[in-house]
Amino acid sequence: MNMTNALTRLRWDLDDIDNQLLDLIEKRLLLCATIGDSKRTEARLFLRPQRQQALVRRLQARAKFTSPEAVRHVWRELMAHSLQVQAPLTLLLVDDGRRDRLQRLAREQFGSAPGIEWARDARSALSRASGEHVVAIIPHQNDLQLASGLHAFELLRDEDGRPTAWAVGRVNEEATDKEAARSRGNPWRPNSWRKRPALQLPEYDDDQKLKDVEKRLAGRAPIVELNDVDILSCRLAEVANGRAILLQAGDCAESFEHVSRTNTVAVAELLAEMAARIEAGAACGVVRVGRIAGQFAKPRTKLMESIAGVEIHAYRGDAINDAVAAPLARQPDPDRLLRAQEHSERTARWLASHVPDGQQPIFSSHEALLLNYEEALTQYDELSGRWWSGSGHMLWIGERTRQIDGAHIEYVRGIANPIAIKYGPSADPDKLCRLLEALNPERPRGRVTLIPRLGYKHVEARLPLLMRAAAREGWIVPWCLDPMHGNTQVTGGRKTRDLDHIRAEIGAFFAIALAEGAWPGGIHLEVTPDDVTECIGGKSGITETDLSRAYKSACDPRLNRSQALEIADFVSEQYAKFRQTGRNA
Ligand code: PEP
Ligand code: CO
Repeated sequence: MNMTNALTRLRWDLDDIDNQLLDLIEKRLLLCATIGDSKRTEARLFLRPQRQQALVRRLQARAKFTSPEAVRHVWRELMAHSLQVQAPLTLLLVDDGRRDRLQRLAREQFGSAPGIEWARDARSALSRASGEHVVAIIPHQNDLQLASGLHAFELLRDEDGRPTAWAVGRVNEEATDKEAARSRGNPWRPNSWRKRPALQLPEYDDDQKLKDVEKRLAGRAPIVELNDVDILSCRLAEVANGRAILLQAGDCAESFEHVSRTNTVAVAELLAEMAARIEAGAACGVVRVGRIAGQFAKPRTKLMESIAGVEIHAYRGDAINDAVAAPLARQPDPDRLLRAQEHSERTARWLASHVPDGQQPIFSSHEALLLNYEEALTQYDELSGRWWSGSGHMLWIGERTRQIDGAHIEYVRGIANPIAIKYGPSADPDKLCRLLEALNPERPRGRVTLIPRLGYKHVEARLPLLMRAAAREGWIVPWCLDPMHGNTQVTGGRKTRDLDHIRAEIGAFFAIALAEGAWPGGIHLEVTPDDVTECIGGKSGITETDLSRAYKSACDPRLNRSQALEIADFVSEQYAKFRQTGRNA
């Protein structure tokens, strides 16, 4: 077949798809008209903005290639036109002297279908909104007085994000959405974690100082944007669906001292190179997520340590205390939370400005450990009615704090950001399912990523049980192996990890995924671009006696640049093999 013929065929295919699309749209319109007829027997018509938002969110999570913005735009129009068939809606705009701008925002929110009319003032617009099928668009003011039955259900913002107008109408409050019903039975607030047992939180000796710090943090702008958080959620849905891979990597703990543009760019470039190598073997896209721009706090198995016979607090990350081994330096200090926020904000800015054209962005992630900090950085989005965390794109819960009725799980349950949970060898498969249910009752794919970190000795016995339990209850999740934290050993007083063990756990992960019919969703690593000697083995030939040469981590041992690329190549080969074997099977 020559080129012209091939193109003609593709165009025919497109024509055919358009016909099918139109048939579906007409079917949708007819259904809506039927629903509209049955509703006309109701005395009054109501709007259901929450239902519409939930629909759009569900589709955004389901989309594999369509951007969240495209889904929103297309469905806004579809929904607006089908609602018009049910009952013609009018937008009543209050003339504030800037008609063009207001009209643009109203169309942006409600699509092209509703009619637009103008009102002299807010009072007359609101009075029509209480009696007719009308949405009043009222200039934004903080002391909006509404008659009973009317709700300001949407805040319209201009291009710079400034609140500009309220959309006010009669909203159906009946518990149509499961979400509202559930939250009534199980209410969530950014501070509801405070009623639950919290492990691993530092004990500060100055309560008032902590409160002041929380207040200052709450007054600061979010470090990341909700739009990017939503984009990452969509990407993680692709990972769950077996169409993309998650690479999550970076420091065990960032340190204030090393926050600089140069270091940020070096980490970004290492991640980009690792991702490119994995993409080459896997032949699918890699979602890049750094342990960066917020990874300043550590859980510890031993909270105290003994230095020259004196008991002092263990180092818990720069957001909590100082690495210097002296009693005063190790005292937890709330002021460090402010510095952690500032360093995260700068790092996030450098990370965002570094994305070269056409390249994938690097999203940020950290362990959601310090709940006072997380609570203070929690945001509410009026537009979608969701709480979300402004502290990073993705948050994870560690092996030590994932108790289902504990404070950490309670906190992440309520935020819209994608979350991940670490699983060590003691993980109970049934408890895993209950946790998934608690964290993701609506079940959009990619909302919860599972990070097994079982160790090469336990992975073969434990991972199949976890995968089977999840599959039995219908969970399709991103499985992202952490081959670092289950393989830590202590040699000559230093923590290290052996590349042979890391490779063994990765190899087992791919074999198990294949046997269980699961997609090996990704890999979670502790790496640094620096030339450190913290992990042993691999082509660089670092042995136990080299560890003292350049051991710079104040926490866990990281792969240096060449070790990280070696592991990326190994992962890449594993994906190539997985594809090959999967196809043959
Ligand atoms: C970590 O990721 O640095 C960590 C402490 O992991 P885990 O909770 O799996 O031990
Ligand atoms: Co670590």
